[in-house]
Amino acid sequence: MSFTIAIDGPAAAGKGTISKAVAAHYGMAHLDTGLLYRAVGAKVAAGADPLEAAQSLTAADLEGDLRTPAVAQAASRVAVIAEVRAALVDFQRAFATRAGGAVLDGRDIGTVICPDAPAKLFVTASPEVRAERRYRELAGNGHETTFAQVLADVKERDARDSARATAPLRPADDAVVIDTSRLSIEDAIAAAIEAIDARRST
Ligand code: DC
Repeated sequence: MSFTIAIDGPAAAGKGTISKAVAAHYGMAHLDTGLLYRAVGAKVAAGADPLEAAQSLTAADLEGDLRTPAVAQAASRVAVIAEVRAALVDFQRAFATRAGGAVLDGRDIGTVICPDAPAKLFVTASPEVRAERRYRELAGNGHETTFAQVLADVKERDARDSARATAPLRPADDAVVIDTSRLSIEDAIAAAIEAIDARRST
């Protein structure tokens, strides 16, 4: 049986960690849809046309170092383009309906890609907490940056992702909102599984 779990939220709220843990818990496949936009953003930064880049995306494009601040900003910029988003819909929906169930995380999974998903979470946290986490992660990976720069980047990306006309970042009406600002990773994962179990049993 296919069961889709949609996990949306802003940058660095803990979506990725929660999604991986949830997928492992239920034995489901996981798709980080941000990687699709990052791969398109990276191609565009290297000179490609955005729509062509989205239409010709292959699995090989999802490898490599896509988790840099520059690629994140490039992703957020191409994600504004309606045609780019449209070109990525079929791949995401096919993944969502695979047998055995799937966890998809992104910005518009519960609202646009899988509006009928039985379980939807919106994972969020304050901009300061998210910037602090992302700063530690980047610094730990040897990226030279400052907390102020990361906070400015987080706020800029939030504003662009939320204000765009096509598929803006917002919780679906039937999403369970989990604010991870004051939660440990373990508690956030437990809250997610509790919310999903409640939807699985109805
Ligand atoms: O989740 P992430 O930080 O890897 O996403 C990078 C950018 O891609 C994000 O700023 C907005 C865009 N994105 C999107 O518009 N829709 C998605 N489903 C996933 C990501």
